[in-house]
Parts: sequence; structure tokens; C-alpha cells
Amino acid sequence: PAAPLIDGHGRRISYLRLSVTDRCDLRCRYCMAEDMRFLPKSAVLSIEEMAELAERFVARGVRRIRLTGGEPLVRRGIDTLATRLGALIGRGLDELTLTTNAMRLADHAPMLAAAGVRRINISLDTLDPAAFRHITRVGDLDVALAGIAAARLAGLAVKINMVALAGLNEDQLLPMLRWCADNGCDLTLIETMPLGEVEDDRSDHYIPLHQFIAPLRAAHALYPVDKRTGGPARYFAVEGSPVTLGLITPLSDNFCATCNRIRLTVEGRVYMCLGQDDHVDLRAALRGGGDVDSLIDRALAGKPRAHDFHIERQSRPAVARHMSATGG
Ligand code: GTP
Ligand code: 5AD
Ligand code: SF4
Repeated sequence: PAAPLIDGHGRRISYLRLSVTDRCDLRCRYCMAEDMRFLPKSAVLSIEEMAELAERFVARGVRRIRLTGGEPLVRRGIDTLATRLGALIGRGLDELTLTTNAMRLADHAPMLAAAGVRRINISLDTLDPAAFRHITRVGDLDVALAGIAAARLAGLAVKINMVALAGLNEDQLLPMLRWCADNGCDLTLIETMPLGEVEDDRSDHYIPLHQFIAPLRAAHALYPVDKRTGGPARYFAVEGSPVTLGLITPLSDNFCATCNRIRLTVEGRVYMCLGQDDHVDLRAALRGGGDVDSLIDRALAGKPRAHDFHIERQSRPAVARHMSATGG
């Protein structure tokens, strides 16, 4: 069998984040610039190429794959890819998941369920229609909510991802918790990370989660639970609520010591860390008959111990590429 993926710090890599497009139908302020230039088609892997690489990673011990973007559901052929990767479940792969903005979920939820997806994460930072439009620049809240309803109807478990944004959605935490309880969703909060040049100064909006959740804590006790999804969230039960609360704190309390993941972009690049620009390019090897596995091994050996994000350096991006290039 192929050699397992162990990095230079002894961490076993079992989780692949596969970014299937750099495009998106929204323009969230913390993620993208208003005027983005996207990759030309020649630079982009085909569905077949992505499936081949993903299968290679599964052969080397990846047990979870998360499809990301940009927005994964704008990629043509996503149904073919999801179906092909879903067929690996039980044959090396434990789980196929997806992170989406829900704008096109009403059309795709039944297909995802049929492909074997059981749970999805949905980016939703506010329930206020005007604030939603402001944060996403172009989004219609009702479309997102209809997408979430369709996912629940298709039997998918839903976790809402809410990026904590000072001055933009602090007032939304308790309403979001209540909405999640009423709609059968879980809720994960995320500290904003400095990737890519955006118009806003991120330090104006950065807020550590312990501060963001203070109003929630005042109303509900939190109890740690040992739910594990393979991701970086720490999970809590919320007294008086059925919602499991996840906290993702890359800046105030990082989780790099237990990192189990790598990222493959739609250009065929493997990024070893979200907070670093180092990568290897598998596309040329894939298209030219080169040795993909030895490139992966080289990348693994160089995986850094931790990211280099700093709270006091939020104003400048820590890495040049936008979040949308690797899907978080
Ligand atoms: P599950 O735990 O499988 O549900 O998924 P997840 O929370 O890892 O994935 P999701 O795509 O929902 O990402 C939520 C947030 O976590 C995003 O802001 C990601 O950028 C962030 N994230 C995921 N993995 C890492 C990581 O390795 N390092 C850092 N710094 N952030 C990460
Ligand atoms: N910091 C933290 N999370 C981000 N996301 C997008 N940009 C950022 C950022 N700068 C989140 C999205 C999505 C997930 C994949 O990453 O909201 O839920
Ligand atoms: Fe699109 Fe997701 Fe980035 Fe928002 S966070 S612009 S939904 S890729």
C-alpha cells in the first residue's frame, strides 16, 4: 500500500480540503476584494483531474474530504465529482462533506445526499437582511435561508459557520443561536483571519471569540463536549439549547499542534498551511506524467509547525492569496 502521509512534525494527515473553484457568487468582505480576478480555464483542473488526485490522497490515508471553493456549488461538474468521491466512502474514505454559502443549495441538496454527503457547513454571518447584503456585498438572505431549508429537507445535518465581526454581527449571536435551535442546525463561530488584501481593515472587525460570546455566556452556561469532526473547532453544549456550539480560534488560541489537514486548490497546488504561501504544484506533474507522490512527500516534509497569524498584525494580510483561493 502507498505510504501514509506523515509530516515533518510527526502529524498524520487524514483530512483533505479540496477547493473545486476560486469563483463565488458572493463577495464576502473578509474573504474577497470587491473586484476579484479569477483563474483562466487553462489553469484550472478538470473534474477528472481533481478526482484522480483525491483518489491518490485517499490511497495514502486521507479519511475525510471537504469540498470547498470559492463556492463549490458554482463549479460545473460538481455533481459528477461528488458522486465519484462519494463512491469512496467505506473504501478508505469515512466522510465527504462540503462548505457552502447555500445560495445554490436548493438545487443541489438532493444530489449531495444521494452522493453520500451526510453533513454540510454553511457560511451565514447574520440573520439581518441588510447586514447580510452588506457583508456579502451582493447576497439575498432569503435565498440562503431557502437553501438551508432544502438541505434539512434532504436529510443533511447543517452546521452554520458565523465569522465573528466586530461592529457587523455582534448583535446577531443570540438571535442566531435561537434560529439554529428552531431550525435544527448547529453553530460554529470563527475568528476572522488575515488572508488576502480586502478593502476593509480587518483589525477594525477582529474580535476574539471569548469576547464575542460574552453575552451568550451571561445567558447560558457552556459545557465542553468531546464531539470530534476532524476540524479545528472545540465544541460545547449550551445550557437550555439543543445547539452544539463550535469555537474556532486560530488567533486567540491556535490548534496547530493537532493539525491533520492539507489543502488542494483548483490549480493543483498543495498548500500545507492556511497561514503560509509555500506550496507544491501537482498540475504540471499530473499533466506531464511526473511523480505526484514524491512532490506530496516534499510538501509534507515542509509543513510548518504552526501558522503565522498575529492578532496585532491583522491590518496587513499574513498571506497574499485570498481565503477564496483555498476555501479556508
Ligand atoms: P468540520 O470540522 O469537518 O465540520 O469542518 P471545518 O470547521 O474544519 O471546516 P469549515 O470549512 O467549515 O471551516 C470553518 C473555518 O475553519 C474556516 O474559517 C476555515 O478557514 C477554518 N479552518 C479549517 N481548517 C483550518 C486550519 O487548519 N487552520 C486554520 N487556521 N483554520 C482552519
Ligand atoms: N477568516 C475566517 N474565516 C473565513 N471564511 C472566509 N474568509 C474568512 C476569514 N478571512 C470562512 C467562511 C466559510 C469558511 C470556509 O471560511 O465564512 O464558512
Ligand atoms: Fe464566497 Fe465563501 Fe468567500 Fe463568502 S466566504 S465570498 S461565500 S468563498
